[in-house]
Amino acid sequence: MERQTTPNHSQPMPDPKAGPEEQGGPDSRAGLRPPVRPGQEVEITLTGLNHAGQGVGRVQGLAVFVDQALPGETVQARVLTVHRNYATARLERILAPAPGRQKPVCSLFPACGGCQLQHLRYAEQLAWKRRQVVDALERIGGLRQVPVLPTLGMADPFHYRNKVQYPVALVPPAQAGRGPAVALGCFEARSHRVVPADHCYIQSPLNNEVAAAVRSLLTRYGWQPYDERSRRGLIRHVLIRSNSSGDQALVCLVTTRPDVPRKEQLAAELMEAAPPVVGVVQNINPQPGNVILGRQTVPIRGCDRLVDQLQVPGAGKLSFYVSAASFFQVNPVQAEVLYGQVLRAAGLSGSETVVDAYAGVGAITLALARQARFAYGVEVVPAAVKDARANARLNRVENVEFRTGAVEDVLPTLQQEGVRAAVAVVDPPRAGCSPPVLQALAALGAQRLVYVSCYPATLARDLARLAQLGYAAVQVQPVDMFPQTSHVEAVALVVRQQAQKGQRREDCP
Ligand SMILES: C[S@@+](CC[C@H](N)C(=O)[O-])C[C@H]1O[C@@H](n2cnc3c(N)ncnc32)[C@H](O)[C@@H]1O
Repeated sequence: MERQTTPNHSQPMPDPKAGPEEQGGPDSRAGLRPPVRPGQEVEITLTGLNHAGQGVGRVQGLAVFVDQALPGETVQARVLTVHRNYATARLERILAPAPGRQKPVCSLFPACGGCQLQHLRYAEQLAWKRRQVVDALERIGGLRQVPVLPTLGMADPFHYRNKVQYPVALVPPAQAGRGPAVALGCFEARSHRVVPADHCYIQSPLNNEVAAAVRSLLTRYGWQPYDERSRRGLIRHVLIRSNSSGDQALVCLVTTRPDVPRKEQLAAELMEAAPPVVGVVQNINPQPGNVILGRQTVPIRGCDRLVDQLQVPGAGKLSFYVSAASFFQVNPVQAEVLYGQVLRAAGLSGSETVVDAYAGVGAITLALARQARFAYGVEVVPAAVKDARANARLNRVENVEFRTGAVEDVLPTLQQEGVRAAVAVVDPPRAGCSPPVLQALAALGAQRLVYVSCYPATLARDLARLAQLGYAAVQVQPVDMFPQTSHVEAVALVVRQQAQKGQRREDCP
């Protein structure tokens, strides 16, 4: 899951699959007048945190979501919106703080919208993420017996991100000092206003350093930031990636048109000012809307990709080419932990054929291939498959094949070709797997499924569907890929039920 740098309209959006605590419960209030109205100030005691990191409490039975309020505290809040079975409110005053509350380290919190949980101690963030998984399994999947292990967190839960996508705006002369300056930042929650971020506490130090250099060059070169309303301007976003060792960065300038005067000169100056920058590329996105990248990316100067390395427990060191548009885990420290958990859950002996569905640039596929007889990776984005094949060559992994296409189509094709896969890994986007995908995995003969999920609600739904296909969830391991935010990632081990009978407990991750 990605940090939101496009305008944040996602909150408060009720989750149709969320449980009573998040949603205001079954609709027992139908036909009743809401007990609160917009503008009203209410005193409320919070009892939960919803999936967006908002405190949840009740006023006369109606669920009220309060930004930055924490469970266990009593607050004064002003009602913003009132819906059929929930309301939203702004925190006005904390009357009794929760024991887990802490002072956020970043002065932009919560305005920038990138972090939702900086005001909650890290140990409590980890506990809350585990709770999110438990609640989803129980309420959505009806799965009460599945062990959910404590969340695996970071020793230092800051400065972990290797990728940033900043929108660009103009800071008025009054704020900028001498003349108008270009600002890079984040969209304020529920708005299109850019909050300038000179330093981001969850970005890698190199990303912060490169962002500062880009900011000053864009100001000096007078590149006009894109204005969504008038649809005028040149530069829309600046995407920066850096590698784990902090010695390579790649900059992608997202512009509305291809012809930009003096872009080669700007790129040369940038690479001189920030020597770890190995290349500057340009992505052209003329379309209005929230999608950050357009279809075309062209090199301006230097390389069009960087090289990163991960040390995956059980698979050793793996190197990856990462280009501007590729999917690559944004937290490399935790990616190693996550992939290590995937390998443990896969429990490979070396004789298996494995399928990695939703393969991205092949990180999991290559790790699996190191422990299996043969690995297939399936990915829908052709550019990612190109990267995955290059990554296989880079790591001299030969017992692997990547197929381009939707898993819905490719998995049945593999089955028709006679492929049998004892172990399968799925790492789908938030929407989870469609029922035909789960059926196709069963048809491939998977005895063991490892489900990597970035959204507990769809994980719970899919584990319940898998139960109907004869698979039992053995255990779930949350891994904190996104400290300070409300995103929750988890690895679930699921086994075919006959196979489970003879399985020893030590096999579990
Ligand atoms: C969460 S990423 C996982 C990437 C990879 N496992 C990793 O750890 O780097 C999900 C990937 O699934 C791909 N994807 C989305 N829908 C797909 C589909 N229907 N069929 C195949 N791949 C799909 C996306 O392009 C993306 O690369």
